[in-house]
Amino acid sequence: MKKILVTGALGQIGSELVPELRRRFGAEAVIASDIRRRAAAGNGDDGPFEFLDCTRIRQVQDVVRRHGITTIYHMAALLSAVAEEKPQAAWDLNMGGLYRVLEVARQHDCALFSPSSIGAFGPTTPPDHTPQVTIQRPTTIYGVTKVAAELLCDYYALHLGVDTRGLRLPGLISHGAPPGGGTTDYAVDIFHQAIRHRRYTCFLGPGSCLDMMYMPDAIRAMIELMAADPGRLKHRNAFNVTAMQLTPERLAGEIRKHIPDFVIDYDIDPVRQAIADSWPNSMDDSAAREEWDWAPRYDLAAMAKDMFDNLSTRLNPSD
Ligand code: SER
Repeated sequence: MKKILVTGALGQIGSELVPELRRRFGAEAVIASDIRRRAAAGNGDDGPFEFLDCTRIRQVQDVVRRHGITTIYHMAALLSAVAEEKPQAAWDLNMGGLYRVLEVARQHDCALFSPSSIGAFGPTTPPDHTPQVTIQRPTTIYGVTKVAAELLCDYYALHLGVDTRGLRLPGLISHGAPPGGGTTDYAVDIFHQAIRHRRYTCFLGPGSCLDMMYMPDAIRAMIELMAADPGRLKHRNAFNVTAMQLTPERLAGEIRKHIPDFVIDYDIDPVRQAIADSWPNSMDDSAAREEWDWAPRYDLAAMAKDMFDNLSTRLNPSD
């Protein structure tokens, strides 16, 4: 029987990945885990939950052994902006956590999903139609950990027999748990502020173009990649995937279709602007399309409509 462990289950991705995995495979087949207690975030209470610090190998071994885990979705990580504030902590968690989870996956013959990112690219990467295989010289500690993670996962697949798979995820837009300190967070926050205050002050400049994706597409991509026929996978780790290319200005234009008097202004954060400037404008995801039939379902209009449908009922405009 398939038994799945999700680390970082209370984060932006994990909190939507767990319910979808439970819907597909049954609540008892999916063990949510996080270094936070679930009561604090109020998620994951419809099935098993474990307190887990991924940097402690004994804890990871114990959870994997007790539950007979066969697949791990390793989502525990620091995002780009927070990582720049705490580079040592970012290395410890992003690399130390992955290394220990990989070791346990090797020892217990688990498949492993590891998320990479547009952050694995840097200023010398071709910014438009960024190829699957290209220059990767990131200038952030987050990017350094993502490139190292891609290579470490390749190594474990090639030499140590672990079925590792991964995606280079773009900025993710969702209405559930908030993102935890990334450069692309503006694309979530803008919806909250638009509904509450009809205005938003953006920390990136109007023309900063980045790949983005709506969370349901990202969750489906992860699950479909893990189910893909391994015989078709030439790249295996860190497939480029994207759904739309957004600038703050373009997103604001879409929001105005729902809130006509919405106003955006700009107060640029030089740290996050520099990070955004070093990332691609648009990734080429043809390898994912060819090797496991990846195709996004949400474009900008469909994503924005769904965000408003979900958030408008939850947020009080007079807050
Ligand atoms: N959304 C992430 C960040 O901004 C990128 O992977 O850090």
